Amino acid sequence: MLRTLSLIFPTLVLIVAHPITSGSQTVIAGKSSSEYQGWFDPRVNGGRFLDYTNPKPPYSGEPLNIIITAFSDPYILTDEGFQTYYKSIGYSEECLGIHLGNKHNADLGDGDERKVQQLLARQYFPVVGTCWESLAGGHHFRAWKQNGSLANSGAWFIGASKEEPTAKKHMIVPDGYNIGRNWFVEKATAGSHWKGKWWKAEVERREGLLKAGKDGVNHGIEQDGIVAILTIHRL
Ligand SMILES: *[C@@H]1O[C@H](CO)[C@@H](O)[C@H](O)[C@H]1NC(C)=O
Repeated sequence: MLRTLSLIFPTLVLIVAHPITSGSQTVIAGKSSSEYQGWFDPRVNGGRFLDYTNPKPPYSGEPLNIIITAFSDPYILTDEGFQTYYKSIGYSEECLGIHLGNKHNADLGDGDERKVQQLLARQYFPVVGTCWESLAGGHHFRAWKQNGSLANSGAWFIGASKEEPTAKKHMIVPDGYNIGRNWFVEKATAGSHWKGKWWKAEVERREGLLKAGKDGVNHGIEQDGIVAILTIHRL
């Protein structure tokens, strides 16, 4: 009996000394502040606010300059709902599914490490459609869902920019990251609708997540380092 107890007891002590934190700790570590904001700071688990334009060094990237928080309309957080939403603010799918640019990766610090873009949408030009954008340049964005097991917020992280025409090999226009972000944010905050669904976004412009300047930024184009954090409400 005593022998049995002494065998069990150290185990009990160990359990008491290590309360059930190991599972939840990673989630807490994923938060950028004590208050949950509807997304986790990718930097906490090795991610960053630049995507990866190449699989190999140099690891230049494009700014992840918009977040759609998990406090948004749950429909927008689904793939189908987000596609409906981005149409409401003037983007569409790529021209006939033909992708003319490189695929980028991003590390959202959610345990998935670098994952390939889950979505690319381009400015929609009425009548000619997005094929026109592919040739003429314009606004576009790439998006990734923060849904890995270490930080499963469900928020969308977006790299928005404005491009030159295809003739220039999808170069970003001067100031094209700031311009691309602002275009998305202006449309979202103005309010939009698609097939009977109406939305309007709240925005917080946050500094300190993304470094301002052109260090490590694809094409060496300066950007102001501001990340627009959007919570999009269904009206
Ligand atoms: C994460 O989100 C993406 C994009 O919505 C989806 O394709 C993928 O299946 C999701 N992964 C998991 C594990 O739910």
